[in-house]
Amino acid sequence: MAARGGDLVAGKRAGSLTGAVWADTLPPAMETTLTTLTTAPAAGPRRGEVRALSVAPMMARTDRHLRYFLRQLSRRTLLYTEMVTTGAVIHGDREKLIGFSPEEGPVALQLGGSDPRELAECAKIAEDWGYDEVNLNVGCPSDRVQSGRFGACLMAEPERVAECVVAMRAAVRVPVTVKHRIGIDGLEAYEDMLRFVDLVAAAGADRFTAHARIAILAGLSPKENREVPPLRYDDVYRLKRERPGLDIEINGGIRTLEAARAHLEHVDAVMIGRAAYEDPYVFARADRDVFGDADAPVLTRREAVLAMLSYVARETARGERLHHITRHMLPLFARQAGGRQWRRRLSTGQDGGAEVLIDALRVIPPDEALGGEGEGASAAA
Ligand SMILES: Cc1cc2nc3c(=O)[nH]c(=O)nc-3n(C[C@H](O)[C@H](O)[C@H](O)COP(=O)(O)O)c2cc1C
Repeated sequence: MAARGGDLVAGKRAGSLTGAVWADTLPPAMETTLTTLTTAPAAGPRRGEVRALSVAPMMARTDRHLRYFLRQLSRRTLLYTEMVTTGAVIHGDREKLIGFSPEEGPVALQLGGSDPRELAECAKIAEDWGYDEVNLNVGCPSDRVQSGRFGACLMAEPERVAECVVAMRAAVRVPVTVKHRIGIDGLEAYEDMLRFVDLVAAAGADRFTAHARIAILAGLSPKENREVPPLRYDDVYRLKRERPGLDIEINGGIRTLEAARAHLEHVDAVMIGRAAYEDPYVFARADRDVFGDADAPVLTRREAVLAMLSYVARETARGERLHHITRHMLPLFARQAGGRQWRRRLSTGQDGGAEVLIDALRVIPPDEALGGEGEGASAAA
């Protein structure tokens, strides 16, 4: 299990980074901000607590490195893992599958499965491992997942999902939540979703995250299922209106904090998926603009890179490939001066350590020259 307790700033002495490089790279005020950001992980969600913004579970995307990077931008946003099947958690290499750094918290583990006993076992493992929440996937439409009888096809079996939630609920103290679709082919009406939610809420689910489009299980690929069925936000708003006591989160097609705030007029929380890896800098203002934390630092893009250096040094010293971390940072400067060269330098320097990032930053104009986009950490400190 990953050790608890932030050591990011201490970690700057690890790996290939020397104090001299740091002295050159890190403005003194930045160190203070990094300490603030990383030595006191935000408390995880408790049952009954509403967390207004999250990053969606996404296979091959929301691995520990993307989560660590996003955490530098927002302390409060809830981050999800990729979906991990119960079979993998029970029989697989846990450190590899569900290991995470304490600084990533709050983090929710998403499970794929439909066996109540196995899900309860995995929920307990997740809690013991330090996860802040356990989430059940009732939204994935892939053939592989359907053949395992879990994911979105479980929308047709609300009683089974309820059994799963009862078992998970009994096994852990952390929130047990469900991510689902507003329907599947054959069960497309609002009333079908309402019946599903009512049964699963009675079983004790702590939050419902509704991807606001149906999943068409026969004939569409997972990618098409994220694009073709139309978004029906009104169904999710109506769910919140008709079940005001439930914690309802909306998901699907939300790309900016402005859009998120508009949805928050109708629901408790907003989950952002693809925008989180296509444009991670979206989250830089989340603590201020969504969570209302006026004192939260807003890192510039450059500062976000600097905030990653000690982590990169630590991880590469442990044998992690640099590319596994930096691939999530490639779009950071998209549409910014130097953005293309940044991408190129990061993509070509795959075998180094943190010095590759420092070198790539040389193509980016200083923050002052960028006209103060965001607000520098130094200004906020
Ligand atoms: C690459 C990728 C992988 C995904 N993997 C998962 C997953 O593991 N579990 C899940 O519940 N949803 C998964 N999804 C769906 C997202 O969580 C989210 O519901 C969907 O992308 C819609 O939100 P968005 O429009 O903000 O991207 C995935 C989506 C993408 C793009």
